[in-house]
Parts: sequence; structure tokens; C-alpha cells
Amino acid sequence: MADLPVTGPERARRPGPGWLTRIAMSPRFHTIAERIPGLRLKSRAEGRALFDVVQGFVQSQALLALVELQVLHRLAEGPLGTAALAHGAEVPTDRMAILLQAGAAMRLLRHARGLWHLTPRGGAFLTVPGLEAMVRHHDVLYRDLSDPVAFFRGQTQPQLAGFWPYVFGAGGAADPALAARYSRLMADSQALVAADTLRLVSLSGTNHLMDVGGGTGAFLRSVAAEYPGLRLTLFDLPAVVAGAAPLPNLTVQAGSFRDDPLPQGADMISLIRVLYDHTDATVAALLGAAFRALPPGGRLLISEPMSGGARPDPATDVYFAVYTLAMQTGRTRSADEISALLAASGFATIRPQAGARPFVTSVITAQKPAG
Ligand SMILES: C[S@@+](CC[C@H](N)C(=O)[O-])C[C@H]1O[C@@H](n2cnc3c(N)ncnc32)[C@H](O)[C@@H]1O
Repeated sequence: MADLPVTGPERARRPGPGWLTRIAMSPRFHTIAERIPGLRLKSRAEGRALFDVVQGFVQSQALLALVELQVLHRLAEGPLGTAALAHGAEVPTDRMAILLQAGAAMRLLRHARGLWHLTPRGGAFLTVPGLEAMVRHHDVLYRDLSDPVAFFRGQTQPQLAGFWPYVFGAGGAADPALAARYSRLMADSQALVAADTLRLVSLSGTNHLMDVGGGTGAFLRSVAAEYPGLRLTLFDLPAVVAGAAPLPNLTVQAGSFRDDPLPQGADMISLIRVLYDHTDATVAALLGAAFRALPPGGRLLISEPMSGGARPDPATDVYFAVYTLAMQTGRTRSADEISALLAASGFATIRPQAGARPFVTSVITAQKPAG
């Protein structure tokens, strides 16, 4: 593999790894660390964290097997032995024992008095809306990553985008069955996003909220529950809004923000998990359209998982960043990157708020200047 010559400022600033890294790279340090109690604990914790990084792909596949074989669901009905679980799943008992032990290591189940039990973490896995469905579609992403070097070089044709055809525009979302499939997955996982978003942002003082790319209206349903009386508009592709359930005060507007102007009249526009699907050019055009649709003083609300930027986040800078790369059209942006796009579109009072659960969402609000 050919290294690019290191030239210019990069060469001038290339003093080698920092001193802590240099120490960690010394086999002698690890021998000494094993003999000093405080250092030993730290070094072992670091070793464990490093091994977790190495084994992540196996863990995710063991989890997918537990999900596909309905192991957690079966345990939710009560404890079972290895043989019964193996029989029900058509897996040889000795191999099921290994899978169950892996599930126990992930603290999803536990073994007591000869039976396997669901743990609180396993119960939460089944209960968190959208989580199981999310894991179920990971086989597509996993296949896309089977040659990670070719993937990062951009030499593969990822299949994940085919799972979310709307990203390619209104034409891609014309199939109602496909639209219903992805809208369901989005709606399932929307409850947590809405809860975290509405915890961070107050809609008091807002008269009319338009949710652009709002799917079948799951976010607006959460909003309506907290702010009854608020006028609501749902804007999304025709095949998607066809699945929207009616709500009091709700106007449904079918259209594509790529091709159609956004409806006027709302004093707040929300973009929930929309920007990360799209290129900078599409995002810039969409923010410009939102700016034009808002009255002076109107507010924009953006909520989606964001990159940690200068402080990389394990959830968003691995999972969401690679996921959106596989989608081919969008990317996981940091709050600073989104803020810069907002400023370029004319927005002011740009306020990023890191979510308590960055893997669920983070939020940015901005305002169209009043004067
Ligand atoms: C990732 S989903 C998020 C849905 C919803 N906001 C949520 O958080 O559950 C992105 C949404 O953007 C919509 N969308 C994509 N391209 C669009 C376009 N050109 N015009 C309008 N909506 C679009 C999709 O149909 C989809 O509902």
C-alpha cells in the first residue's frame, strides 16, 4: 500500500505519538504495570475496552441470532432450559448452549437453577420501541461491510440504500408497501426521539408547527399530546403521508422538498432525522426552503443523532456515521457542521443542545431574524 508523501505543515507538525501513547506502545510498560496495583487495574480496564472494540462484530451477530431465533421472546414467557430453547429454534443443543452463554455475557439473559431467564436488560431490549426491528435489518448493513476496506474506498455498491428508497427522491418512494415498511420502522423508534427532543425544546409560544419529512406523523402525535391546540402540518412524500393517521388540528401536505416549495404559514418547522440522509447540497437547499417558508422570528428545530465532532462519540461516530455512509447520500454531521449550514442559510440564534442520549438524538434550534 503506497503512503502519500507527508509534506508541508503536516511534516512540520509531526513529532510522533504523544507520551502516554508512547508508554502504552512499550511492552516493558505493560510488564511493569502488571506489578503495580493502581496501574494494573487501569491497564486491565483499558485492555478490556480494547478487546470490546475488537469483538464488536461478533457480539452484534450473536445478538442478531438471539433475535432471529426468538430466544428473548420465548424467555419473556418464562424460564426455559437449553434443550427446550434449542429444540424450538432447531439449533443443536451444544451450539445453542454457546449462543445462550454469549447472551448471558451480554447480560440479556442469565442462567440460574438449570434454567435460562430474561434479565432486565433483555426485557428492555424487547420493550424499547424500534430496537428489535433495528437489529433485524442489520443483516443488510453487515453484508455491506463484509469488505470494509473496499467499503471505505468507495469500491462497493452498498445495499442498505435499497432498504430506504425514499432517500433517492419521490420516485424512489412510490411503492406503498416499501414506504409502509420503512415508515413503520421510523415510527417505532420515534417515541424516544420525540421524548428527548421535547425534553430539550419548549414549543410554548408556537402557534403552528410544520414537521418536514415527518413520516406518518409520529413526532406530531407526541407533540399534540404535550401541546394540545397547536396547529400542525405534516409534510412528506405522497406514498409516505398516505399512511398518516388523522389527528385533531393536523393538515397533511404531500410533496417533495427537493422539487416543491415548502408550505407557508407555520411559525416553527421541525426536521427530525431528516438531514443525515442527504448531501450537503440537498441540506443547504432544504434549509434555504425552510428559511423562506418561515415568517420573521420563526423557529427551526433540528433533531437527529449527531457526530461528536472534536469529541468523537462511540455511538454516533461509529454506528450512525458508517450507517449513513452505507446509505450513500447523507452523512452524520456534528452540531458545528449543521450550525454552519444554518448560518449560511440566514438563520441566527443557533443553539445546539447535546441530547442526554446522543445515540437517540441531539437537537439544534435556530431562528429566522425578526427584522
Ligand atoms: C429517516 S426518516 C424520518 C421520519 C421522521 N421524521 C422520524 O423521525 O421518524 C426521513 C423522512 O424524510 C422523508 N423524505 C425524504 N426525502 C423527502 C423529500 N424529498 N421530501 C419530503 N420528505 C422526504 C422520508 O419519506 C422520511 O419520512
